Amino acid sequence: MSIDYDRYDRIRAVQWRGDHLRLLDQRLLPREEQWIDCRDAAQVTQAIRDLAVRGAPAIGIAAAWGVVLAAQQGVPLDAALAMLRAARPTAVNLMWALDRMKSRIAAGADAAALEREAQAIQDEDLAANRHMGELGAGLIAAGSGVLTHCNTGSLATAGFGTALGVIRAGVSAGRIAQVYAGETRPWQQGARLTMWELVRDGIPAQLIADSAAAHLMRSGAVQWVIVGADRIAANGDTANKIGTYQLAIAARHHGVKFMVAAPSSTVDMATPSGEAIEIELRDPAELLAVAGQRTVVEGAQAWNPVFDVTPAELIDAIVTERGVIEHPNELAMQAMFGS
Ligand code: MRU
Repeated sequence: MSIDYDRYDRIRAVQWRGDHLRLLDQRLLPREEQWIDCRDAAQVTQAIRDLAVRGAPAIGIAAAWGVVLAAQQGVPLDAALAMLRAARPTAVNLMWALDRMKSRIAAGADAAALEREAQAIQDEDLAANRHMGELGAGLIAAGSGVLTHCNTGSLATAGFGTALGVIRAGVSAGRIAQVYAGETRPWQQGARLTMWELVRDGIPAQLIADSAAAHLMRSGAVQWVIVGADRIAANGDTANKIGTYQLAIAARHHGVKFMVAAPSSTVDMATPSGEAIEIELRDPAELLAVAGQRTVVEGAQAWNPVFDVTPAELIDAIVTERGVIEHPNELAMQAMFGS
């Protein structure tokens, strides 16, 4: 499959600058394209916690660079690892990247060797995304419409994206004719970030309210829902942005296929099923206000889980850089990812 990467892979939101980490501040997009410079592991932890950098692969990569900053500054590495690990609970890429750095530290790596390891984590993510893009696009019939959720693009990864990488590859190869992106309340990753990426790339796309998804599926305009993942359990159950589960249910009801695209760093064979995945609860204030303006009556309370789990039986294909698993289950996961 021939993919025009010069056109479709131009955004780099996580940039290592030798002695600091430069991040495109995702809290401000699309209004402002502002960069923040993290100069120590505490600033990287804060950026992950506050969603200045977000998306499962991107927070793993940022955390790896946080460890490099700690090593360069002679800060106790165990403390830096623990602080970064506690930044967010659901995306396993964070723990995966830190475990990888920890094993290099245990093997005696110095700051320069840790810098090479963080760079490898970042480079491998980009390569995985490009490969997954081709594999995922290969499942889609020419001229299809697709619906995506949250932001899984270059902003959420080293580049190109996971689900958005599949979409970019599919558009480039003529398989995808129209993209729909759900707003992704409450933080609006779809409206603010995915639409920003799609418009920059000139990809035909329309924003929908999250609540319009079932109606869209019923219209026949989409053949696939394509989403990323924050953690894929050993039986194929998948945690992703809140709202993904209801999309999978609606997709099955309407005969729309459901694809999860994620690098193998998102697979957690130590977690047996979705029930064991910790779901991050964030500040109710994120729900009670829109763009900083309070929209709900004072005194109201809110419940704000920011991920949900889609059971494996609702997933038609899990696409990773290692290959495609159709109709995922424990056996198929075990065969591809071992234990
Ligand atoms: O809370 P976020 O914005 O970090 O959540 C991100 C998602 O849920 C993405 O869909 C997931 O990380 C896959 S990103 C390639």
